[in-house]
Amino acid sequence: MPWVVRDAVDEINRAVGRRWQGLDRLLPPRAELPEGCAAPFVATGANGRPAGLASCRHGHVPDGTLNQTWGTAHRFSLVARLRDADTAVALDDLLGQWRDHLAGLPGTGGGDTAAMITWPARDVSGVDTLLRHGLQPITVIAVRPARCEPRQADPGLAGPAGPAGPAGPVTTGDGSLVIREAGPADLDTVTEFKMGVIRYDALFGAAILRSATEALVRAETQAALSARPAWAWLAERDGETVGLVHVEAPEQSRWITGMTRAGVTMYLQTMFVRPGERGAGVGAALVRHLHAVLDARGVDTVLLHYAQLNPLSAPFWNRMGYRPLWTGWEVRPAVSLR
Ligand SMILES: CC(C)(COP(=O)(O)OP(=O)(O)OC[C@H]1O[C@@H](n2cnc3c(N)ncnc32)[C@H](O)[C@@H]1OP(=O)(O)O)[C@@H](O)C(=O)NCCC(=O)NCCS
Repeated sequence: MPWVVRDAVDEINRAVGRRWQGLDRLLPPRAELPEGCAAPFVATGANGRPAGLASCRHGHVPDGTLNQTWGTAHRFSLVARLRDADTAVALDDLLGQWRDHLAGLPGTGGGDTAAMITWPARDVSGVDTLLRHGLQPITVIAVRPARCEPRQADPGLAGPAGPAGPAGPVTTGDGSLVIREAGPADLDTVTEFKMGVIRYDALFGAAILRSATEALVRAETQAALSARPAWAWLAERDGETVGLVHVEAPEQSRWITGMTRAGVTMYLQTMFVRPGERGAGVGAALVRHLHAVLDARGVDTVLLHYAQLNPLSAPFWNRMGYRPLWTGWEVRPAVSLR
């Protein structure tokens, strides 16, 4: 990268980090512009200085991996860094350059491709521009801070050693609902519940059911349930399992921790209540139990994804103390970016 561009990258990264902190203290303090497939796109501001930079990254998610259930096999992602509070003009310029770039690439018209951008939920100045370029808000990364400021980093706090909550089952307030940790014998039920969420989220474009999905979910579940703690809890009513919550262990949540502030972050992977049991407090009882465990272990921040168009998840998560942090915008196939 030529030094002039490298200087501009450093300067814009710092400015964007400051701007993000003004918008939302739960965004990461630094905004890095990663290397892209070529030199960054540059949007020039009115004063001749760069007002924004963006990198295009090409990803291929191989067949037979669970990651292919969470999006298309070929992903063209734009990482955009905009200096000024009003991002509309510079973002429009960068999206136009990206559109021309994608139009010239082989394979961007394939059905299993997407052009994607992850945008801070509170950076509302860019929303109209994203829509005008044909992008759709598909997913939300929501956040729950356990407290205003994270504790000093202490990986031991939420490390794998020690129990993840009370050893035995816990009876909730209404007496008929029991929350207990899931174990290897629950493989069928936990797999069924995870597939329930995937099938539901596939209705809203946030998941893509593949022929390998169920076997992969089962294999991943088997590994998770054989670990201690499993970080997965089931709700039972009259001996029937009615709901599941599953978080990823701190060391397995690292793939997403850079999306928020420093401190101990965990990723909430699955939340499911059987259809006939919804609206009766099962989900809330599971999440209350989970939060008590995570708060006691010093976890600062919980992240999760939900499908923007899922009518059940946004109100539920809001009641549970979560709110949008990032929005995942997409257009499929990638070449249909306008
Ligand atoms: C989302 C889900 C887990 C909620 O579980 P639930 O047992 O129905 O939720 P609860 O009955 O415990 O509701 C807890 C609170 O959220 C509110 N709530 C739940 N769903 C709601 C909805 N669709 N609209 C408005 N409020 C809702 C409840 O009114 C309750 O509020 P209160 O505390 O004021 O009483 C359940 O609907 C589900 O399994 N959905 C399908 C899978 C899914 O979408 N999972 C989430 C993917 S991220």
